[in-house]
Amino acid sequence: MNPNESNETNESNETSSPDFFTASFTQNPYPVYEKLRKDDPIFKVMFPSGEFGWIISRYEDAVQILKDSRFSKDIVKRYGADGQSIFSSNMLFSDPPDHRRLRGLVQKAFTPKLVADMRSHIQSIADVLLDELPSQETMNLIDDFAFPLPIIVISEILGVPAEDRDKFRMWSNTVIEASTGQNAELFQQHEREFTEYLTAWFAKVRQEPGQDLISQLVIAEESGEQLTEKELLGVVSLLIIAGHETTVNLIGNGILALLEHPEQRDLLIQKPELIHQAIEEMLRYNGPVEFSTSRWASEDIEFRGQQIAKGELVIVALDSANRDEEQFKDPDVFDITREKSAHLAFGKGIHLCLGAPLARLEGEIAVSTLINRFPNMKLQIDVDTLEWRPGMIVRGVKEIPVLLK
Ligand code: HEM
Repeated sequence: MNPNESNETNESNETSSPDFFTASFTQNPYPVYEKLRKDDPIFKVMFPSGEFGWIISRYEDAVQILKDSRFSKDIVKRYGADGQSIFSSNMLFSDPPDHRRLRGLVQKAFTPKLVADMRSHIQSIADVLLDELPSQETMNLIDDFAFPLPIIVISEILGVPAEDRDKFRMWSNTVIEASTGQNAELFQQHEREFTEYLTAWFAKVRQEPGQDLISQLVIAEESGEQLTEKELLGVVSLLIIAGHETTVNLIGNGILALLEHPEQRDLLIQKPELIHQAIEEMLRYNGPVEFSTSRWASEDIEFRGQQIAKGELVIVALDSANRDEEQFKDPDVFDITREKSAHLAFGKGIHLCLGAPLARLEGEIAVSTLINRFPNMKLQIDVDTLEWRPGMIVRGVKEIPVLLK
């Protein structure tokens, strides 16, 4: 909305909102985002929960909000302790000093150096997954490759059995799709099951700690100062969910972009050294995170002429910021030779993605291995018939059936 327009127009925008919360918006949000950046860069909407909030679509505004501590992530301060599920007792939903304490406990496991040392192991996981495909003619890129790769890696880091990955996927899907406002009962049931599973696992680890990250966190929790039981559940469930959901979609959306731009795929096959830039471009062009970068105003804030009331939600639309024509030349062009992209796919500020080095490495290995092994891979169905996942948290396709040869 133009900042000079009256509140009346503001109210009418609330009711005539584009359908942000549907799978069809997720499929192609870019025309809506382009219009918002032009006409209504700070746009007021009603969320499926019935709460009002603002959608921020321009790059510069996104950066400013993500760095402004008046926009809080603290769930307990906003909704009280009752509003907190195990999935929100972690650094992503806290402000300093709790944020610093919780992030500090896990960040040493994800440094660029430690992650780089995992390269050959992750490569062997990718190779085995492709060697053991049910068929060498066709595959479902998500189920057969993009999903198992990151879930195996994060399970190994945490020390939980990778064979339980279908359970993690089911619980995690419920959390991701809960943002549609549906299935409250299923959410509670899966939250309970996930909690029971992790609690039993922590008991086992207490008896026999190993070298894994959960063992280190359990020891920190037992010392009684650094981490509560609830936070332990919150941090581990966040790492399981964030550690695969987004990377699945980096691989899925990234390969989809290559299949839709065969000249870019051919260029990457000819010049494999472009893989780093290609991954950054995939993150910019079709980023895996949709509306999960939310904050709430901890006080009344005037932002670019709009009055954001204390308590209102603010959602930074990263995929829109990443197509902002003021920031990126020809933003709708998928160009794997683009340099210095400075995209916001991993966020900005104190909550900048902790797993970014790992996600980048997994993305590079997954994409290079796939296109080298199957350079003629094609979509088996029309791109417009692919089904996008509902929910506001991640942006990705449910299944990508491909012909491999
Ligand atoms: C935070 C994106 C992979 C763990 C974030 C945020 C974004 C993001 C945008 C910030 C959210 C906000 O500011 O509200 C992504 C993308 C990924 C990815 C696009 C893959 C392509 C991963 C992986 C892990 C991970 C593999 C686990 C190892 C986290 C954690 C946070 C976070 C723990 C919270 C950080 C904090 O609050 O300080 N991620 N992520 N992410 N991510 Fe990722």
